[in-house]
Amino acid sequence: MSELLTDIEAIRAQFPILKREVNGKPLIYLDNGATSQKPQSVIDAISHYYEYENSNIHRGVHTLSQDATAAYEDVRKKVQKFINAKYDHEVIFTSGTTGGINLVASSFGENLVRKGDEILITAMEHHSNIVPWQMLCERKGAILKVIPISKEGEIDIEEFKKLIGPKTELISLVHVSNSLGTINPIKEMIDIAHAQNIPVMIDGAQAIHHIPVDVQELDCDFYVFSAHKMYGPTGVGILYGKEELLNDMAPWQGGGDMIKNVTFEKTTYNELPHKFEAGTPNIAGGIGLGAAIDFINSIGYDFIGEHEAELSRFAVSQLRDIKGLRFIGTAKERAGLVSFVLDGIHPYDTGVILDKLGIAVRTGHHCTQPVMNFFEVPGTVRASFAVYNTKQEVIRLVEGIERVKRMF
Ligand SMILES: Cc1ncc(COP(=O)(O)O)c(C=O)c1O
Repeated sequence: MSELLTDIEAIRAQFPILKREVNGKPLIYLDNGATSQKPQSVIDAISHYYEYENSNIHRGVHTLSQDATAAYEDVRKKVQKFINAKYDHEVIFTSGTTGGINLVASSFGENLVRKGDEILITAMEHHSNIVPWQMLCERKGAILKVIPISKEGEIDIEEFKKLIGPKTELISLVHVSNSLGTINPIKEMIDIAHAQNIPVMIDGAQAIHHIPVDVQELDCDFYVFSAHKMYGPTGVGILYGKEELLNDMAPWQGGGDMIKNVTFEKTTYNELPHKFEAGTPNIAGGIGLGAAIDFINSIGYDFIGEHEAELSRFAVSQLRDIKGLRFIGTAKERAGLVSFVLDGIHPYDTGVILDKLGIAVRTGHHCTQPVMNFFEVPGTVRASFAVYNTKQEVIRLVEGIERVKRMF
């Protein structure tokens, strides 16, 4: 294997966008929880497909189609290895995390859940892991139950155990919270659920770029994530599912590629994974995801995890001293972000002033309105880190916040 890339300046040099200025200042991009920037290799992989291979997959006998199919299917195998799935047909391409959750809710959930059944989620879920279950519960007359969190932003495991009952049909959990940074003890929770034969789905949107994921070791039933938060393109993601569960599930969307044979009287469906991949997929996006995995592998999770943890620790140590700043989310196990409010200053105003200084942070409810209600804040300011961020950028953030404070 080639030497790992562990020099931050060399890593930064791979991201063309980091050279740009915003409002006359060098860009400091701290909104990686929303989407990460893309290295040149990902951009090149996408343009290479459009320049040299562009054609539809799985259907052409001609060279371009064969090449594109091979490139796309190679990525499926790459993802299989990346998350240690048992088979490559357990890897389903989707439009993203939201697409994956909706697929599971609509296909697995539709078949499984009956009137009066219960689905468990946590109080720190992204809207994408709330609304599809709510919609399913409304359709079926089922009940959505919420595992409470503490003021630190940690799941209460004892409450979780109490909430599991004979009517619990499914548990869907976020691996890493996008608004609090909490890393949840998902392995422990999966084991507790499995002891009662309850399937567990994991929303890995904020985990996959920070933490190595081994779906066989976790023994999760489903795991979903998006390419765009892990240095890949938008509009593509992955649903991992255990073979036996995916085989038992009905297709979700109908169309080309997911069929074996169609007549007006009856259609028979394709095998896994194509059964769940109706229509022309985001081929370029899939190929870009493959390049994003190569990028992450070229650095390695040890370095990524340590670098981001160091940035978070440094940010906390610097921000802690700012008067009137309150952290939202102080769990013991946290990944790559700080979320906070400033006394008397709306997060939106903070975000606008920081933008004038070239600093991109996320402000608002981060698609977790129940979390904001729980902490009784209108929203937070969130700085979320990626492998290309530096301590110098954190210092600039702290100076920016001091400046915001002086303006109010
Ligand atoms: C924890 C979590 N789940 C789900 C999503 C939805 O991801 P996407 O918009 O890529 O489908 C996000 C995006 O911010 C997220 O942070």
